[in-house]
Amino acid sequence: MRGVKIRQIVYFYGNLGLNESYVSTILSVKDVGKTYESAGNSLTVLHRINFDVEAASAVSIVGPSGSGKTTLLGLCAGLDRASTGSIVLNGICLDTLGEDDRAGVRNQYVGFIFQNFQLLPTLTALENVRVPLELRGERNSRNRALELLDKVGLADRSHHYPLQLSGGEQQRVSIARAFSNSPRILFADEPTGNLDAETSDTIERLLFDLNKDMGTTLVLVTHDMDLAFKTQRIIRMKGGAVVSDEVTQPKEL
Ligand SMILES: Nc1ncnc2c1ncn2[C@@H]1O[C@H](COP(=O)(O)OP(=O)(O)OP(=O)(O)O)[C@@H](O)[C@H]1O
Ligand SMILES: [Mg+2]
Repeated sequence: MRGVKIRQIVYFYGNLGLNESYVSTILSVKDVGKTYESAGNSLTVLHRINFDVEAASAVSIVGPSGSGKTTLLGLCAGLDRASTGSIVLNGICLDTLGEDDRAGVRNQYVGFIFQNFQLLPTLTALENVRVPLELRGERNSRNRALELLDKVGLADRSHHYPLQLSGGEQQRVSIARAFSNSPRILFADEPTGNLDAETSDTIERLLFDLNKDMGTTLVLVTHDMDLAFKTQRIIRMKGGAVVSDEVTQPKEL
């Protein structure tokens, strides 16, 4: 693939061969806290968070802006390390893993749809979606990436760079990329935040089809309560803490 900046890419995906195994609790979060230190000040944004997520389930995390949803999602996916407590993802304890090993876990098991997309600006839409496939050594990565772009309605934008795409189009490339490694667990931070109603319906359907057909666990952060009520469980956050955790009667799509 042309011009791939491997170091940038390895930051997210790494290249660690891990064995497949089945666990019924795919995510376990115990007493997790996060404190940021900057300019001599420390700011605690997550306080003693506890929850488990069953494999193949769908969970929403909701809460006001600044309540810590994105921070929590990043810790659960191994993008960053918790300051206190413990996170076990697919049977692997993330607490003591270094950057490279966490990147390996992500490449093997995790899809992540970022609130701000995080596409690589020097790669086209097609290349962005191909990256995780290439790192896994998949043959036919080009066709698979094209297929995924087609699913999110972007077949005709495959050669565009992120800056040549609208916000909603970038979001859909980010969704196609998150699907590309057939993740066991998909973390989605406001996956429909920039989309019109029709495109949003298409993306929701793709997410829930993945959950139903492939058993991919979904952990969605959203301000859209209609979307939240389509999952079986809603975790509510406020001020960096979980204030409720309820099983819901999922609405039909
Ligand atoms: N790197 C950082 N350094 C210092 N503070 C941070 C950092 N990242 C996030 N924060 C702070 O942590 C808090 C939680 O942020 P976070 O992005 O997790 O909120 P959120 O619930 O996702 O909000 P939104 O709904 O607006 O996306 C905020 O007050 C934010 O300012
Ligand atoms: Mg956020």
